[in-house]
Amino acid sequence: MPNLTLERAFQSLKPAAVLDVGCGCGGHSTRTLLELCDRVVAIDVAPRLARWHEIAQSSKARFSCMDALALGFPRDAFPLVVESAALHHIARWPEVLTEMLRVSSDSILLQEPLDDLRSAAKQRTFEAQGLFLSLQAEVGVPHYLHLTRDAILLALEGQAVIVETRLETSDAPVSFDEFFESFDVFASQSGRKEYWLDKLQTMRSKFAGAPLCEDDTLTMWATKRTTR
Ligand SMILES: C[S@@+](CC[C@H](N)C(=O)[O-])C[C@H]1O[C@@H](n2cnc3c(N)ncnc32)[C@H](O)[C@@H]1O
Repeated sequence: MPNLTLERAFQSLKPAAVLDVGCGCGGHSTRTLLELCDRVVAIDVAPRLARWHEIAQSSKARFSCMDALALGFPRDAFPLVVESAALHHIARWPEVLTEMLRVSSDSILLQEPLDDLRSAAKQRTFEAQGLFLSLQAEVGVPHYLHLTRDAILLALEGQAVIVETRLETSDAPVSFDEFFESFDVFASQSGRKEYWLDKLQTMRSKFAGAPLCEDDTLTMWATKRTTR
């Protein structure tokens, strides 16, 4: 997670507790939040019990298996509610924004990868992402196209929030193997592993060793009008 905006949110709000929506294994967004706040509540629809237990033992994080579409917390339960790279895994993500705003008494902070086809490396990355999405769709792991700033702004329309946006661009190279590190794991779940490995090989030949690149990151901070 890029910390600048997060740190600003913490400096401004000094939240006693923060909710991390779609926390995954807890090793990334939750750990970052734990550096800034003692009390982190983290939820994900897919439980990673062993990892959660390990992190919870050495910190004040509390993990729960929960669907972001129906957060089991009362209205205004957390001053700050954060998500990092989770929205684009959820088909009905605009409803998640409504839920995040319901359980937040002040602000929500969104951090999502962003596509921009400004270079050949970005275009290769977009194509590579497409291959991953097709495989993941086949094995039932929801993962959709990256969101856009306009789509998020549209979803927030009528929500009585003030929105600040920050775009962090990156052209740092990522090797083909690094990008497709977990491809084999998903291909093994598909029932037609050879087909997917052939597709990967075709793409590898086409790219001929040229690198992919990191995603840009879009950060949006939405504050309820009533709190300002
Ligand atoms: C790319 S991971 C991001 C994990 C973490 N926030 C991070 O920064 O690394 C996306 C996560 O969203 C979770 N997710 C997908 N649909 C969800 C839902 N309906 N409710 C809660 N979490 C969900 C997935 O299980 C996955 O762990």
